[in-house]
Amino acid sequence: MTHGTALITGASSGIGAMYAERLARRGHDLVLVARDFDRLKSLANRLSGDHGVVVTPLTADLTSAADLERVVVKLRDDAEISLLVNCAGIGPNGPLLGS
Ligand SMILES: NC(=O)c1ccc[n+]([C@@H]2O[C@H](COP(=O)([O-])OP(=O)(O)OC[C@H]3O[C@@H](n4cnc5c(N)ncnc54)[C@H](OP(=O)(O)O)[C@@H]3O)[C@@H](O)[C@H]2O)c1
Repeated sequence: MTHGTALITGASSGIGAMYAERLARRGHDLVLVARDFDRLKSLANRLSGDHGVVVTPLTADLTSAADLERVVVKLRDDAEISLLVNCAGIGPNGPLLGS
């Protein structure tokens, strides 16, 4: 049984990093998306060393249309990707009704 590759946005901290850890532990190869390359690279090295999976950092600022398009192309064209975990996002910056 193959697990396929999981693409995780917001993978370098918080909820996304936890998904990355758990999915690597289950044997998924990973594509990790966030803005800061050094943080992504350091997590990728640790997860591939600990779990023996292939981890690819993909730097992208998802507020940039050009960067977002690179992620969309990756999702569309990489047939190994079987799972998307979309953790990068924004929370409300004011009362719910107003925002
Ligand atoms: N923590 C909670 O209890 C909780 C509860 C409900 C909802 N949420 C929502 O869940 C999401 C993640 O929360 P979290 O606590 O895990 O946040 P976090 O620890 O701040 O992690 C955010 C992740 O997203 C990346 N990121 C931020 N802006 C980005 C951008 N423009 N393009 C690409 N990547 C970006 C960050 O890396 P870089 O800075 O390197 O880009 C980081 O990897 C947020 O939308 C939050 O509002 C969180």
